[in-house]
Amino acid sequence: MVFQKEGKIMSHFNAVKVSERVYWVGAIDNSIVDFHGYSTHRGTTYNAFLIMGKTPILIDTVKKPFYEEMMARIASIIDPTKIEVIISNHAEMDHSGSLPQAIQDIQPKKIYASKMGVQALKAHFHFDDHVITEVNPKEKLTIDDIVLSFVETRMLHWPDSMFTYLHGDGILFSQDGFGMHYACHKLFSDQNDHCIMEHEAKKYFANILMPYANFVKKVFAALPVQNFNIKMIAPDHGPLWNNKNDIEWILSLWKEWAELKASKKVVIIYDTMWNSTAIMASVIADNISKDIQVKVMPLHKFHRSDVATEVLDAGALLVGTPTLNGQMFPTLADVLTYLKGLKPKNLMGQAFGSYGWAPEGVKLAAKELEVLGVNFVGDPIAINYVPDDQALEACALLGKLVSEQL
Ligand code: FEO
Repeated sequence: MVFQKEGKIMSHFNAVKVSERVYWVGAIDNSIVDFHGYSTHRGTTYNAFLIMGKTPILIDTVKKPFYEEMMARIASIIDPTKIEVIISNHAEMDHSGSLPQAIQDIQPKKIYASKMGVQALKAHFHFDDHVITEVNPKEKLTIDDIVLSFVETRMLHWPDSMFTYLHGDGILFSQDGFGMHYACHKLFSDQNDHCIMEHEAKKYFANILMPYANFVKKVFAALPVQNFNIKMIAPDHGPLWNNKNDIEWILSLWKEWAELKASKKVVIIYDTMWNSTAIMASVIADNISKDIQVKVMPLHKFHRSDVATEVLDAGALLVGTPTLNGQMFPTLADVLTYLKGLKPKNLMGQAFGSYGWAPEGVKLAAKELEVLGVNFVGDPIAINYVPDDQALEACALLGKLVSEQL
């Protein structure tokens, strides 16, 4: 069966069987490199799922440009117009962008979302009042032979977010939860490299969930109460966690990251104009004790979202900036603004850098660190033009001080 639209026949995309009654019908985005400011060099997937009960149900949709890919995958299993129910777990447009078109083409009898989801979907697409029905997270929803439960997961990653659990098959559809931006052409976690998955899952947590770490802990507190027998976790991005070991692994990683604990790790971010701030960064790094991990990140080379990934479990953040026209260097302003939004915790740190006329860049960077709640180690180091031996000695001392206090 194929899905036909405006004369196009999309017959080359297939659904992937996930369980006896469930198929993956999402889309793979190989080309995305920027997801609202987060670098996604491994691309991403927008996962959507078709539950083939007596009443076919679609869980989530995909980003709007991938609508036809999703419909073609659905059409490889059933005529999409046979879908009677759509459940929207999350209103962000990477999952809801295709919803209005899907509603128009499928004409489902019911569309469900959380209480906040009803409001968010209305605000996005200006649906009439009766179009979306609010789920009751306190009650199971039975649709013929399909029994579903819902868990409100506010701020994971938006106020409207919820999980849907399919009883029997034991699948937890977790929208952004436990996901990653990774255009994996192999759908299941046991088919993918665990080093890549750990890195991308950590990057996802750092850049999307870090400010909501306390909400993540609430979700972990709420899940056991439900007595679910989870056999698979199916997020809306990246691989599906399809075996006990991988489920335990990703849950334990998330539990650990949600603590925002400082580890023995120093992140040094800097930019440079005539190499003075770069030399200062190198000397500081060289004087960090060898039992401490050091990540030196020149910002002309590292993206803000890579910095956030490293900061997630760091114990110290050192920020080096030249002064450019009375300001800190723009790349530093970018990253510090981004980090302020992510609200990392438990960091010590300091600002350093070189200047020509006045050390405004270092002063401004130190102010930003104060707003970030960083505990200062020593004093800011601002060097006129090019560091001499005495200046480099101050940098070495900063490295040693951080090592002692971490
Ligand atoms: Fe994948 Fe918060 O959307």
